[in-house]
Amino acid sequence: MLADIVVDLQYGDCGKGKIAHALCEKNNYTHVIRYNGGCNAGHTIYHHGKKFITHHIPCGVFYGIKSIIGPGCVIHVETFLQEIENLKKEGIPADKLVFIASNAHLITDFHRIEDKKDEKIGTTKRGNGPAYRDKYARKGIRAYEDPRLQKYIINMYYELYENEEHENIEILFEGAQGFGLDIDWGDYPYVTSSHCTSGSALLNGVPPSAVRDIWGVAKIYETYVGAKDFEGPDEIFETIRKLGNEFGSTTGRPRQINWLDFDTLKMATRINGANKIVFNKMDILEAVDSWCLYDGPNLYKFKTKEDIEMWLSGKLQIEVSEDIEVLFSGDKEKI
Ligand code: IMP
Ligand code: MG
Repeated sequence: MLADIVVDLQYGDCGKGKIAHALCEKNNYTHVIRYNGGCNAGHTIYHHGKKFITHHIPCGVFYGIKSIIGPGCVIHVETFLQEIENLKKEGIPADKLVFIASNAHLITDFHRIEDKKDEKIGTTKRGNGPAYRDKYARKGIRAYEDPRLQKYIINMYYELYENEEHENIEILFEGAQGFGLDIDWGDYPYVTSSHCTSGSALLNGVPPSAVRDIWGVAKIYETYVGAKDFEGPDEIFETIRKLGNEFGSTTGRPRQINWLDFDTLKMATRINGANKIVFNKMDILEAVDSWCLYDGPNLYKFKTKEDIEMWLSGKLQIEVSEDIEVLFSGDKEKI
């Protein structure tokens, strides 16, 4: 068994969907597994030039790969079934490719009603927090208990181990949200209710020894959606928001923007054990021709794209590990 993990190093919305999609095209995965979160996530994927936004469903479906919503996830049944229908309408046989781990948990309508009352965190109001709360309070409902999901339910243990193909299983784990939203490592309480780090993938039934690559995905600037103050003072962020279409793909809320914070990035790289790092949205900063980042309290301004690329690669290799491969969007062929 072999597994690669795609994990977000910032606050979600860094383009994990795009990297996962590119990896599915290149590698021979037998399974794509979403390992945390629910329909609070919104993954934007361009498949053959067409735009798709998925919430629950892993991107393996676009390549005919068996796609599993893992035990670490929470599922809202209507949203899930609607997503299957939408994909089918576009000619993607999602109902034959998508499966749900029997021990994943459900988001009920009651969870949603409760989440709608949130004012403190700025949640996506999708019932995520209440569903995880009930799971850990041992009064949640597991996916196998819902009659509408029967045809999708699988037992993860049998799927991964009691299977003739066991030796040949190659998994792509697709994370949701990001390091800064992780329940333990994010800026609590402005976090989501699941574990967003690479370690979380392993909780879905795969041993640490199976892991090959950990793809950390970041943006060349940072964005965050939620109730805390995050946006920096620079006027340019308004332009970046428009050019970069920085509005939540689930809720449409404007994302707050700031320059990349190297300390957070370094911490996320270390804790996730990322050995490949991709910085997305280089084209947006290229369009405004402004290359800045924070290193500690200092704001650095770079003259060119090449300067910031060299600085980031060098610093990650010196301060974290010389084995880290650093890529920038535009380097798609290198993925
Ligand atoms: P919840 O996950 O809906 O409870 O929201 C908790 C926090 O995580 C809020 O700040 C949300 O905006 C943020 N969040 C949840 N899912 C995503 C996502 O997929 N992308 C970006 N932010 C997210
Ligand atoms: Mg997203």
